Amino acid sequence: MLKNTFFKKSIKRGTKYVMLTAYDALTSRVLEAAGVDFILVGDSVGMVLLGYPNTSCVTMDEMIHHAKAVRRGAPKSCVVGDLPKKGVEKGPKQALLSAKRFRDEAKINVVKIEWGKDCLRSTESIVRQKIAVQGHVGLTPQAVKNATGFRLQGKTAVTALKIFKQAKAFESAGASLLLLECIPWQLAKLIQENVSIPTIGIGAGPYCDGQVLVFQDLIGMFDQFKPKFVRRYAETSAEVKKAVVGYARDVRQNRFPGLGESFSLDAVEFEKLRLAVKRGQTR
Ligand code: KIV
Repeated sequence: MLKNTFFKKSIKRGTKYVMLTAYDALTSRVLEAAGVDFILVGDSVGMVLLGYPNTSCVTMDEMIHHAKAVRRGAPKSCVVGDLPKKGVEKGPKQALLSAKRFRDEAKINVVKIEWGKDCLRSTESIVRQKIAVQGHVGLTPQAVKNATGFRLQGKTAVTALKIFKQAKAFESAGASLLLLECIPWQLAKLIQENVSIPTIGIGAGPYCDGQVLVFQDLIGMFDQFKPKFVRRYAETSAEVKKAVVGYARDVRQNRFPGLGESFSLDAVEFEKLRLAVKRGQTR
């Protein structure tokens, strides 16, 4: 169970947890209404929404801006704030300050930290301040420079053992949750069986305690590339494009707006107006 003042849910093993990303209030409102367990304000916002080539460009100020919007749309949800590279790269002191900003400015319940330099000391100092942490191992996008770097991790016994040890180390440092990204399902299962905290997978097979997807992948809105582990439950990119093409056609052919979509002036008022214009009373 997460010991965290801001965390209202009890987290136990044996349940399947549903996590999805959101970067704005419009989306988080829908996710809360649909009853997802966790909303992740991922630094994937950099690539999905902000047009950056990688997630490392994202600043802490940008994360706070999006996290506040997500919280406004989903006041009751358990929201996870992703610590961006620029919010942790200077070490545990900076990581703690960033975690506190998430908690105090955006009312976030949990912070996520990717495996990397100082991540364990950062986790320990954040946990000491009673802020819950989700450790992220396997494919860690902050270590990736461009789209070609998004590859399966832990393909050999040696590299798989490294990831296994990282997961265990996060648990020992006090993390309350783990995120396993893009690793073979056998490795994810082995980790799930050997840690006491819930594992949330993305591209890590069916044996995790929960699953996470980027919302824009799930609805087929992000169409730059589709990782093997994504299942699209809708094709909104095509639908949205169809809508925009229809709108453009109607505007160009003067078929939008119609009078039914316009405001009408009272006939008497219009007659007065027309006469005033006719008499030249326009100044
Ligand atoms: O930033 C993100 O969206 C993530 C994914 C693993 C969901 O970390």
